[in-house]
Amino acid sequence: MHEIHPEKLPRHLAVIMDGNGRWAQERMLKRIVGHRRGVETVRIVVEECSRLGIGYLTLFALSSENLLRPKGEVRSLMALLKRYLEKEASRLMKNNIRFNVIGDRSKLPDDINLAIDSTVSKTKDNSGMVLTLALSYGARQEIAYAAAGLAHDVAAGTICPGDVDEGLFARYLYTTGLPDPDLLIRTSGEMRISNFLLWQIAYAELYFTEVNWPDFNKEELHRALENYQSRERRYGLIGDQVRNRRQP
Ligand code: FPP
Repeated sequence: MHEIHPEKLPRHLAVIMDGNGRWAQERMLKRIVGHRRGVETVRIVVEECSRLGIGYLTLFALSSENLLRPKGEVRSLMALLKRYLEKEASRLMKNNIRFNVIGDRSKLPDDINLAIDSTVSKTKDNSGMVLTLALSYGARQEIAYAAAGLAHDVAAGTICPGDVDEGLFARYLYTTGLPDPDLLIRTSGEMRISNFLLWQIAYAELYFTEVNWPDFNKEELHRALENYQSRERRYGLIGDQVRNRRQP
């Protein structure tokens, strides 16, 4: 059994869900079967994070590059996503979860955007965990989008170039209003960030597991959280400073 201390949970957990395709190929199944199983894992992880009291969960569901995969796979992923949004709204309501999306939504089909709007609006007054799906998302694209927003406001005269600092810049990112992730998990043995939340993970703890996403489960989640809780986060300071700061 893994021991989880509620007071030391990450406030924001971000996950790169990887390995659906390999999970399927290892079993001589079509890649879409892996994605379907991946959606079941999403359900399990979302509900367990909410039950544990994690405040924010952000899942990398579709990168801007994923949209360049063969048309059949993109279509299947979109169909899965639509079904998830339609079916899941009532479970999100039951669990008091607020639903949110980040990414370049102009690249998503209209029916997906409608389903997103409907789920966001249904769950907008929920006060529990905030579930964010990154869809058609790329971190460099997000940073360029923020820079364009800032440039626009400077040109309009509403802010001065001298006012631009980290806090102000972050308000122009897709993730405005979300705290930075404390823990980033990536499944399937790949040790890369793949253009996910580059700005926001500056101080996040990174956790990599060999397990493919369809095989990730409550136990694997607890293992990752227990590992996170055993780490000392120093934010560039020395251990004594951080330990003293924690004391009242
Ligand atoms: C990585 O596996 C996963 C994806 C590209 C998509 C993740 C999508 C889901 C879990 C399903 C849709 C999500 C929701 C929330 C409905 P991969 O295909 O890159 O695996 P591989 O690296 O083994 O090929």
